[in-house]
Amino acid sequence: MNIAVTVKEIREQVSGWRKQGLSVGLVPTMGYLHEGHKSLITRAVSENDKVVVSVFVNPMQFGPAEDLESYPRDMDRDAAICEEAGAALVFHPDASEMYHNGFSSFVDMNTLTGGLCGKSRPVHFRGVCTVVAKLFNIVTPDRAYFGQKDAQQLAVIRHMADDLSYGIEIKGCPIIREEDGLAKSSRNTYLDEKERKAALVLSKALSEGRKLIELGERDADKIKDTMTGIINTEPMAKIDYVEIVKWDSLEPVKNIDGPVLAAVAVFIGKTRLIDNFIALED
Ligand code: PAJ
Repeated sequence: MNIAVTVKEIREQVSGWRKQGLSVGLVPTMGYLHEGHKSLITRAVSENDKVVVSVFVNPMQFGPAEDLESYPRDMDRDAAICEEAGAALVFHPDASEMYHNGFSSFVDMNTLTGGLCGKSRPVHFRGVCTVVAKLFNIVTPDRAYFGQKDAQQLAVIRHMADDLSYGIEIKGCPIIREEDGLAKSSRNTYLDEKERKAALVLSKALSEGRKLIELGERDADKIKDTMTGIINTEPMAKIDYVEIVKWDSLEPVKNIDGPVLAAVAVFIGKTRLIDNFIALED
């Protein structure tokens, strides 16, 4: 497995594969890889001849008060995980390789990005769309893999790929969890022992919400109230949002009559965690 740091290296490698008629899958990440990322790579390897994993902590998607500096990094470990999962190539550029001096073109989306995480992270999705658009242009994959862990991001990227006619299949992959239910995340590393326990309140609230829907409850407010109540039993938790929206238009919903996304964002101490489930999907 090779590690490339320049756009030129990636283009050369991919064009060699194309000449041999090989298909290419892309798994975009910010590194500090865990089983969630690995499940995306494994799926990509099973569906493509060659898989490129990008490892790039994208400064553009972090707000000024967010954790860009402290975001965990471990390239040696990441490379070992990519290799073990069967990736052919890792793209690990510097910020200056992705954003040269005078960089001034952005991908902005007018729908889907205003609610949920977009509300408290106003610059986030512009950064995500811009970097993913660049990665699509650099790697030109047949398929790209995203986790449902970041459900809004998955909906946004699907919409962007369609709007901008990329012709890339966007594949959504299920959330991978710790044994006790906590959704795996690079940011879990910020949690101390007490916070780690408190963080279980997210998956607990969501599984109660899911149960209510399975039992036939269709009033979104009632389900949100139940989830909110459970999260508020944990003194270390501070809710950013508890929402139920249509999947995957992300429009508000009162009476559930089709596929919905139930999503929460909660601060545990200083760490902002997100989790969700999708219900009634056909
Ligand atoms: P990152 O947070 O590193 O996540 C990379 C991919 O892994 C995303 O598609 C995310 O949804 C998926 N993922 C993370 N945790 C997961 C879990 N527990 N189960 C399943 N999939 C999981 O998301 C980003 O990076 C960035 O925004 C990026 C798309 C790379 C653009 O910079």
